[in-house]
Amino acid sequence: MENALEVVRQLLLGECICDAFEDALVEASAATKCSSFVLREPLAIVAVSHPALLHRNCRRHSVSELATAKTLRAIAATLKPTKLRDALLKHAQDEYRHARIFRGLARYLGKLTEQTDVTDYQWILDNDAYFVAHYNGDVTNFICDLFAGEFRTYRFLTTYVAALSDKTGNYAPKLRNAFIAVLDDEHRHLAYTAHYLNDWMRSGIQLKDSLVRGFRAYDQNSWIEVSATAEFFCKPLVASLVGHLADGLHQEATSMSLWRS
Ligand SMILES: [Fe+2]
Ligand SMILES: [Fe+2]
Repeated sequence: MENALEVVRQLLLGECICDAFEDALVEASAATKCSSFVLREPLAIVAVSHPALLHRNCRRHSVSELATAKTLRAIAATLKPTKLRDALLKHAQDEYRHARIFRGLARYLGKLTEQTDVTDYQWILDNDAYFVAHYNGDVTNFICDLFAGEFRTYRFLTTYVAALSDKTGNYAPKLRNAFIAVLDDEHRHLAYTAHYLNDWMRSGIQLKDSLVRGFRAYDQNSWIEVSATAEFFCKPLVASLVGHLADGLHQEATSMSLWRS
């Protein structure tokens, strides 16, 4: 998996990356290299073999994309008419479309597995609404955060597409094609945010700390995904252990005449 600097080099082909941006990207990559990053590929390999887990993940991604779309539209509304505002509004439209794509995939996988995830993801929308309500008007820091989030999505989708390429079965090509379509948009989002960060840092705006903070925050957030995957596999085991425990207690209680009427 490429680091952030390699990815930006490919995205900004022909555009000179300034020293400050290069330095910030190296530090941001180093700050997240040894944490949840190392689990991305194995997690994707596990997930693509379990449609019920994919169903849950797609439901969650659908809400995340919707939250991002709403945030982008709200922040764009605070800006004067500029190219950046237009780009953020276009970006918001893409994220609304991604929310619909993931929602459609979640429905399809739900029918396929005859399972319905009922997890309440309202907290994702609440978090973003809180962020917008407390936004301090610093759009340069917002773009740092956005770039870090897009980079995380890029990594997640790239590992999923690779894992699905090795997979046979009826749902794999459908998911792979949908993920590739979303990935194309995420490339564009990374490219334009990288372009702005490069320009700003070249002009002397100090954004390294903000970028590193963004990468760290999204990396920590990724542990929620790790935890959700562990929970998915643990739940039946815990339920069966609780069942055994209850049986054991019942037998013990019966032998002690405690449950007799
Ligand atoms: Fe997206
Ligand atoms: Fe995006």
